[in-house]
Amino acid sequence: MASIGEAILGRAQALARHSDSPAHYTRTLFTPAHQAAARQLGDWMRAAGMAVRVDAVGNVIGRYEARAPGAKTLLMGSHFDSVRNGGKYDGVLGILLPMACVAELAARGEKLDVAIEVAAFSDEEGARFQTSFFSSRALIGRFDPQLLERRDADGTTLADAMRGAGLDPARATEARIDPSSLAAYVEVHIEQGPVLLGEGVPLGIVASIAGGTRHIVRVQGEAGHAGTVPMALRHDALAAAAEMVLAVEKRCGAGGSLVGTVGILKVRDGTGNVIPGDVEFTIDIRAGEDTVRRAAEQDVFAAFEAIARKRGVSVERTRTHEVSAVPCAPWLQDALAASVERAGVRAHRLPSGAGHDAMILAQVSDVGMLFVRCGAGGVSHNPAETITAEDVDAAAAALLDFLRRFEPR
Ligand code: GLV
Ligand code: MN
Ligand code: MN
Repeated sequence: MASIGEAILGRAQALARHSDSPAHYTRTLFTPAHQAAARQLGDWMRAAGMAVRVDAVGNVIGRYEARAPGAKTLLMGSHFDSVRNGGKYDGVLGILLPMACVAELAARGEKLDVAIEVAAFSDEEGARFQTSFFSSRALIGRFDPQLLERRDADGTTLADAMRGAGLDPARATEARIDPSSLAAYVEVHIEQGPVLLGEGVPLGIVASIAGGTRHIVRVQGEAGHAGTVPMALRHDALAAAAEMVLAVEKRCGAGGSLVGTVGILKVRDGTGNVIPGDVEFTIDIRAGEDTVRRAAEQDVFAAFEAIARKRGVSVERTRTHEVSAVPCAPWLQDALAASVERAGVRAHRLPSGAGHDAMILAQVSDVGMLFVRCGAGGVSHNPAETITAEDVDAAAAALLDFLRRFEPR
């Protein structure tokens, strides 16, 4: 018989076939592939013994009742959207693993003092509409209706994409749950880095999650003829943007947890023989401490202004995302650490540089996170992302132990 780990790896492979692109694994909000993945997850949740609902923003939520009515709910979960050309376990592991643990409990007729819900969040990466954490925010009652007007690269609004997926944008606020019903939120996630690999341990307990901000920056210069405008007279928006990208790298490269990334850069109406006049790029800046991140942002924006002045271009920025750094609750860290040790693994605590739905749930609940070792040097947001069935088995043993001993506060 396949181990839980092998079964979960098999399911992650199967789910990754629901992709927006035949060439690689990309699953973005409310595409046909995303809707097919949601249906598959719902079927698996039902087979695991859970009652399933799809909420007003497309989250698929399975529920396993407690021993007695009126109990609080231990919410677990993660996201089933992906970055473009991403890894198959980012997010999905945090849905499949708790689902497998519930299946194990249900098969033995075991009920707990808490109800368990497993949430498959529809949009954490926000790749299609730049709407990171759209669905967990809606779950905690912080849905921002302005997002409905955001457009994807083809000009489709989020509101239209919702309608296409059979959801009514006017009812999005109905995704809100009553936070007082929650005993805690616990998220399992692939580490997405090399720390556990270096430590030689399959599991890690997350101590804190780095905060982050994203902006879209627009640089406007003057389009012109590539053959006739002398170099000294140009207002090349792309050359200015290139200098800005290097300013991000320099300011955010000072060390510690501070990091800065330009992940998208586009020349509007770019043509090989035209001086770029209009450029857009994204910046993503993160740090374990919010003060460190904000200081870096201010310096980066001051550098942008100086570069724009020097080159005779304009620069404007729009913030698309901000989330503060979050500590994981000490009592959940300790309970996860004890379960990890009972699973025969040294309990190693580490910070998360990646963002997770747990950051949003932390606004209404205590949160805990369990990391599973990432193979291939720790690479993630990359199709080479990988985990082993043995490590997932260890995670399942630790999570089952944690669930069986869980005592709400
Ligand atoms: C989510 O993957 C993030 O950007 O941290
Ligand atoms: Mn991710
Ligand atoms: Mn993720």
